[in-house]
Amino acid sequence: MKRSYSQKVVYQIYPKSFCDSNGDGIGDFPGIISKLDYLALLGIDCIWLNACFESPQRDNGYDVSDYYKIDPDFGTMADFEQLCQEAKARNIDIMLDMVFNHTSTEHDWFQKAIKGDKSYQDHYIFLPPNADGSPPTNWQSKFGGNAWEYVPELNLYYLHLFDVTQADLNWNQIAVRQEMANIVNFWQHKGVNGFRFDVVNLISKPSTFQDDDTGDGRRFYTDGPKVSEYLRELNLNSFGHNPEALTVGEMSSTTLEQCVQYANSSQDQLSMVFNFHHLKVDYANNNKWALAPLDFKLLKSILFEWQVGMQHANAWMALFWCNHDQPRVVSRFGNDESYRNQSAKMLATTLHLMRGTPYIYQGEEIGMGNAYFEDIKFYRDVESLNYFDILKNEGLAEEDILKVLSARSRDNARTPMAWDSSPLAGFSSSQSWIDIPKESVTINVQSNLKESDSIFFHYQTLIKLRKTYPVIAEGSITPLLYEDESVFAYQRDWSEGNEHQSLIVLNHFFDSELHLDLADILGKGDNISHWQVLINNYPDLLIDQSLNTITLRPYQSIALLKLSN
Ligand code: GLC
Ligand code: CA
Repeated sequence: MKRSYSQKVVYQIYPKSFCDSNGDGIGDFPGIISKLDYLALLGIDCIWLNACFESPQRDNGYDVSDYYKIDPDFGTMADFEQLCQEAKARNIDIMLDMVFNHTSTEHDWFQKAIKGDKSYQDHYIFLPPNADGSPPTNWQSKFGGNAWEYVPELNLYYLHLFDVTQADLNWNQIAVRQEMANIVNFWQHKGVNGFRFDVVNLISKPSTFQDDDTGDGRRFYTDGPKVSEYLRELNLNSFGHNPEALTVGEMSSTTLEQCVQYANSSQDQLSMVFNFHHLKVDYANNNKWALAPLDFKLLKSILFEWQVGMQHANAWMALFWCNHDQPRVVSRFGNDESYRNQSAKMLATTLHLMRGTPYIYQGEEIGMGNAYFEDIKFYRDVESLNYFDILKNEGLAEEDILKVLSARSRDNARTPMAWDSSPLAGFSSSQSWIDIPKESVTINVQSNLKESDSIFFHYQTLIKLRKTYPVIAEGSITPLLYEDESVFAYQRDWSEGNEHQSLIVLNHFFDSELHLDLADILGKGDNISHWQVLINNYPDLLIDQSLNTITLRPYQSIALLKLSN
């Protein structure tokens, strides 16, 4: 099945940290407009803007107080409309971030609810205390602490799966679901075709609330009973009528079986889904705050399981290493000390040539690494600050906590986009809301654009290739060298009529040099001379014809193409 978006690439912008036009240290829409030519040069098709509706910014916009207004930090509605127009003029669509699982406690609905308005209390999940006054359940908030907050005036608790200022909505209420469809339609009328739905597999809560004796409660509210029903209804009442719509759901702690439903080919729910299993492969004991080295074989097996499983069901997935909640991939699975250029390109090739829609997170295309902040005073993220206290209370030494944060904090991704080598990195004319990492002196847009073999141009090539070869956009995927401990390899195939395209992608994830038997890769009868090099992050290929081997150098990544008809 052909999908209108299989050739597209999405670029994610964290508006707060992309470009500041008015010198208040916070990125804004006029700043983004001034960089649209840069994005057009990269070749992307759609910009996903992180949460930008009016918000008290407790969780950087994921606490919405008014879904019909732009947060004044980012500009005015007129600025937003201009951004849409100018993007459209460059064939770029806009995707908005719909934070529909919860609202800010400053939202008008919540304010009415706590003043005693029963109909607005029904918009949220309010429950009475247990007989001893304790919260209704022992569920944990994802940002730490109990997930219920007591409101003394009402003698009720409300549920917040995230921060205490992010109250979960009650999607069982038809009024809430109608409001959500209205909001999507409002932005759609402004010409927005893309929608990302924040933690959308958490919207359907169970009908009874009970303690979780074995976990933090997530098994009771993740992929709840009516998620698909609610998504189908939202689709029908809003974006389902729009042939240009591109929708993606963020699925927290989900399963392949569920995602096959959410993003299947009937298209009656979402175009595609994000899942995070492949980004938990460096957690010790499944704990985000406990460091472990990358489990490469686990990374491979998870990605292959999802690639093959989604393909089998004709469902579609978003491909990503980075976003505003994840550390930078070149520091995480690559090597930002000795092989930044090679490893960043290798990771890009691995991702962009798989089956699905690639997402690039701002700065990834120039090889930006983690922030490496050395003091808690540099951190801004509510989750990081909460966990600093939690880990301290658990008895961890401050030095060790800082080590964990420097690998795991969401702020690693949220530092300002580095445009040039000046002290403020060309981001703003004054001190930015969060510090600029030291590496920006060398790792920036200006230096990338100067070198024709930079990481930026590697991304540009990958985007062009997706639009040129249907095997990348539409082809099937088969894992190769499944048991190999250092190479991530796969084959893609595509045919139409007599025309056939095959692609073999070899990605070396480590800093060693290794030899592979070409017969294991190409199949016994085939010869390397039938294949052309489509993209390579080294200037050449090391082939030994007599031994029929290929040598991969540190972080080398190669795609080979064979066309036939
Ligand atoms: C999603 C967002 C994250 C936010 C959370 C709560 O995971 O990506 O930034 O904090 O939802 O809305
Ligand atoms: Ca600004």
